Amino acid sequence: MKSYIVGNWKMNFSVGESSVYLHKLLQKLPRHRNLEIVVAPSLVALQPLSLQTDRKKIRLAAQTANPHDFGAYTGAVSCTQLRGIVDYCIIGHSERRQLFHETDKDVRATVAAALRNQITPILCIGETETERTFGETHDVLRDQLLGGLSEVSTEDLSKVVIAYEPVWAISTTTDARLAAPDDISEVAGFIRQILRESYGKTIATSLPILYGGSVNPSNAGAYLTVPDVNGLLVGSASLIADQFVEIVEIAKRVQD
Ligand code: 13P
Repeated sequence: MKSYIVGNWKMNFSVGESSVYLHKLLQKLPRHRNLEIVVAPSLVALQPLSLQTDRKKIRLAAQTANPHDFGAYTGAVSCTQLRGIVDYCIIGHSERRQLFHETDKDVRATVAAALRNQITPILCIGETETERTFGETHDVLRDQLLGGLSEVSTEDLSKVVIAYEPVWAISTTTDARLAAPDDISEVAGFIRQILRESYGKTIATSLPILYGGSVNPSNAGAYLTVPDVNGLLVGSASLIADQFVEIVEIAKRVQD
């Protein structure tokens, strides 16, 4: 299966800085048949960067989108408007759920909107620290996964990418709070089990599952070799060219 390295730039870089940074990445990144490299710049940078990027090397993702196609939704941008500009859309990121109050209903409607606009949804799921402490991880992940996919037609299911991002492991600098590869393996196996029970073996084995949460060049190799993990969703390390390129190089070595 293809491996994915996705850089979520979050709310960083001006449009000019994004362009300079993309230029640097395009120069430094190797091209690899089985490696999909995606970056998710700020919304304002997407359109100019879509004209600049070489899509054979780096594809673009939006960090969120509104589930409606058009209408009176001041400040929102829809998948219909993003169509042709991005190939992917990150949907249901925990920061969107927590800080912007995106609900499961919003998430599933946006997943459906992305698919009807030829955009690949990267559906993010992950438990909070409290949910983990109370032993609710599996229930939360099952609800977010099946909820997020509930408006997807059988034929479109194979076009979805899943990203597991435990909320407690995002943006941590303490080793003790990093997710252990064994824990990720258990969760990735659980996600495949739920997919198998709900949609059958073909979907369960073919959907890519990415891991995200404080990924850096020192731990990327360990995460990429976790069974059932097909790539990484990288936050802060994706903002530093040397680190992002190193993570891609590691993914390339793991693929070869
Ligand atoms: P960090 O890699 O900074 O922990 O961010 C992870 C993330 O939220 C990517 O979407």
